[in-house]
Amino acid sequence: MKAVKIGLLGLGTVGSGVIAVLKRNADEITRRAGREIVVVAAAVRDLSKPRDIDSSDIKLTEDAFSVVDDPEIDVVVELIGGDGIALDAVNRALDNGKHVVTANKALIALHGNQVFKKAQSKGLVVAFESAVAGGIPIIKSIREGLSANRIEWLAGIINGTSNYILTQMSEGGRDFDDVLAEAQALGYAEADPAFDIEGTDAAHKLTILASIAFGISLQFSKVYQEGITNIASEDIAYAREFGYRIKHLGLARMTDEGVELRVHPTLIPEARLIANVNDVMNAVLVQGDAVGPTLYYGAGAGSEPTASAVVADLVDVVRAITTDPENRVPHLAFQPDTLSDLEILPISEVRTAYYLRMSVINRPGVLAAITEIFGDKGISIATISQKDSGEDEQRVSIVLLTQNTREGYLTDAIEQIEQLDTVYGSVVRLRVESLS
Ligand code: NDP
Ligand code: HSE
Repeated sequence: MKAVKIGLLGLGTVGSGVIAVLKRNADEITRRAGREIVVVAAAVRDLSKPRDIDSSDIKLTEDAFSVVDDPEIDVVVELIGGDGIALDAVNRALDNGKHVVTANKALIALHGNQVFKKAQSKGLVVAFESAVAGGIPIIKSIREGLSANRIEWLAGIINGTSNYILTQMSEGGRDFDDVLAEAQALGYAEADPAFDIEGTDAAHKLTILASIAFGISLQFSKVYQEGITNIASEDIAYAREFGYRIKHLGLARMTDEGVELRVHPTLIPEARLIANVNDVMNAVLVQGDAVGPTLYYGAGAGSEPTASAVVADLVDVVRAITTDPENRVPHLAFQPDTLSDLEILPISEVRTAYYLRMSVINRPGVLAAITEIFGDKGISIATISQKDSGEDEQRVSIVLLTQNTREGYLTDAIEQIEQLDTVYGSVVRLRVESLS
């Protein structure tokens, strides 16, 4: 049968991994797909850049649109990133009747509703497995493997760069900026690493996961987002004393009031498997009503792990080419006309437990004033501990864990505590999830 011809947009970390995997495993991939998959053209930003891969049999160009307009090409693989030229190229590829594979979570989270609508109307596939959790087949697992279930919640370590930094800070006592530079050199970080460390990349991925888990449209703007930039090494150490690890977690939960969508640093009991997922590894825990908890683990970033998911999408697209467009797996798991408009809860309505750290004057009565504020707000304290604040005998740190409460109540309590003249500066707040 005729080979399927691919046009690649981008030959960076992921693009070069795709070339390497397609070449190395060509026979296996052909046996699985039923047809040969051949990259015939690729677009890059700078043709003069030295490249590790052998691209002698590929037409290289600096014009991405010449690839998407090339009538020889059957499938466009978008690996440029962002929602500028990448989005224009994806839309034009669809207009030209070409299937698309992309690793671009920003594009899917922000523009997926429009892109899928266009693809659907033209009977085309837009595949995006590699956009979430790198090499882990989490999209396929939720969309197909768990399709019998009502998904109750999911929680994931879904940014490899943040996990790498937190692990190296926590296990190796290393400096934030040094580890970030290393993650960039390893090809894990986004072109703008602020997307990783400020939680935007994880929020993009959570948007996608929530949509396929709950059958809702993609709603990136409703995700509550915090990154890892404010995690202090003392919080990592105190969390350990309490028996927890701090991980950057994306959480989507269906409640009676609406859907929680949030990404933030989270204390997780150290006995949980997911608390021990380190470095660039990702893991996603999915709770289905029939299956119970299921856990998916693997490399969340990097050249070949991500290429593994891109090439798997290519195999799926090649298989889909011969099937009736009306009977394919829907892009967002649920049939497009059945997506629901469940409310996404604001963070003030979310219920969870908290870790708090505050610096206070070392004198009798200070703790009583603080606990009285919690009592007035109906917030129960699970554990409280006083820590010396180094050389300053006048100051101590109070570190405590609360029971589950509504975030709005806790915010009010923190505002009152910060106004006490016995409390210095702001209260550090991290969320705690038992994930049981
Ligand atoms: P890179 O920055 O390594 O590669 C980007 C590629 O796009 C480069 O080859 C670059 O060309 C090319 N490019 C940039 N602008 C243009 C343009 N205007 N026209 C043509 N080509 C252009 O990025 P990654 O490979 O890391 O990431 C690609 C996508 O994959 C992103 O959406 C990212 O979020 C996603 N992703 C990345 C993962 C990772 O581990 N890195 C994991 C999962 C998803 P040149 O080489 O000349 O600079
Ligand atoms: N920058 C992303 C991460 C790449 O670190 O997880 C994988 O999506």
